[in-house]
Amino acid sequence: MAAEGAGPTTRRVLVLNGPNLNLLGRRDPATYGAKTLADVESELIALGRELEVEVECRQSNHEGVLVDWVQHAQDTFDGIVINPGALAHYSIALRDAVEAIVVPCVEVHISNVHARERFRHVSVTAPVMQGYICGCGTAGYGLALRAVLARLDG
Ligand code: DQA
Repeated sequence: MAAEGAGPTTRRVLVLNGPNLNLLGRRDPATYGAKTLADVESELIALGRELEVEVECRQSNHEGVLVDWVQHAQDTFDGIVINPGALAHYSIALRDAVEAIVVPCVEVHISNVHARERFRHVSVTAPVMQGYICGCGTAGYGLALRAVLARLDG
């Protein structure tokens, strides 16, 4: 899903969601809210229009697919917003992919992972990100998009 009307110099940001985030809206709404992933993605695309950035959203339940998308983003996007889901807690492969690219990447978690089970307190991916937002609900994605743009402008 890409924003319309983007010109050749328009900046492009890839928004990635990892395992189980396709279930947003149905999965534990007390923790993750009532919005579906489609709702979140269309809000981000609308915010992108406002901020004059093209936003492309993708979701996968598969670690290798996310690694491929991150690697490919190096040549095709100016920045990445990523909610790795549970992969944040253990995927060295995803961490290495983010570390290998130079485009700014900001990690988002909808819930406050630090107020939840102990195994969610560690993010192995966070140390290689340019920013980290958690516990702000789905509004965190918009904050992360703004943070990526601030990095690009910085
Ligand atoms: C999550 C937090 C993770 O611990 C969990 O595995 C998810 C969602 C969040 O957005 O709060 O799938 O990344």
